[in-house]
Amino acid sequence: MNASVAGSRRLLVGNWKMNTLHDEAQGLANELLTLYESGYEQSSIDVIICPPHVHLTTVAVAIKDAQRQPNLPLLASTTSFMLGAQDCSHRAHQASTGDVSAKMLRDIGAEWVIIGHSERRQYHGEDDTRVYEKFIQAKRFGCNPIVCVGEDEACHQLGMDAVTAHLSQQLSQFTSQQLSLFTTHDDFFPSSAPLVIAYEPIWAIGTGKVPAPESIAAVMQHIHQLLPSALILYGGSVNPGNTGMLATIPFLSGFLVGGASLSSASFLKIHALFASAISADN
Ligand code: 13P
Repeated sequence: MNASVAGSRRLLVGNWKMNTLHDEAQGLANELLTLYESGYEQSSIDVIICPPHVHLTTVAVAIKDAQRQPNLPLLASTTSFMLGAQDCSHRAHQASTGDVSAKMLRDIGAEWVIIGHSERRQYHGEDDTRVYEKFIQAKRFGCNPIVCVGEDEACHQLGMDAVTAHLSQQLSQFTSQQLSLFTTHDDFFPSSAPLVIAYEPIWAIGTGKVPAPESIAAVMQHIHQLLPSALILYGGSVNPGNTGMLATIPFLSGFLVGGASLSSASFLKIHALFASAISADN
């Protein structure tokens, strides 16, 4: 049986990045909802889709509409198909032109938010301190953060000790001592959601390259030792061809999918393969 944490909860997250015009986002959301309902699956996997900010309301409405339709009973009876955002501001509400706060995201129905993605770190200069500030904002307003970490190609070339040291550094603010300082804060939003960490090696994102399963397993084990109650996802070139191989890695609780989440067929194929790997493993 696969070693996993936080019970049997699994997450499949689709990060649409800066893709889709309005009608495409609406169409993709509707396709996903219809296909999901028509058999892709009653399983222990929660699905979260993260469209660009400008399409969040459109997708939130699509999910709500689907939940109201009597011919889509699976969606009506479950909260396992959820909306997430790709980023939030590190501020609550100041003059901050162009930013979107976690409170706004939660208000329009986003229950999750990705923070610290390597593309934010690279193109917007976000460092670990900024990521932690965003984490605090997300937690304050009840938007569950998915914290991304991962090493670049140069670090990967140095070997596993360098990789784990890098990840320890990126995660140092999320240890239980640090978090307990914060959770005693008055306005912390009480949430039973586990801490979710997404391990995304930068060199594997959008390249078709995936680390060897033993390397991912070593990283999962390392993160689990640092943060025993966290759910740990893998991201980086996940597709229907490698899902089965990745799905049974110990301590892996799900996937953060980029390119393959832009097609309903491939995203739901990943869902189906993940579901069957879990049931074969149990
Ligand atoms: P790809 O699945 O396209 O490699 O992207 C991974 C990713 O960055 C998800 O956040």
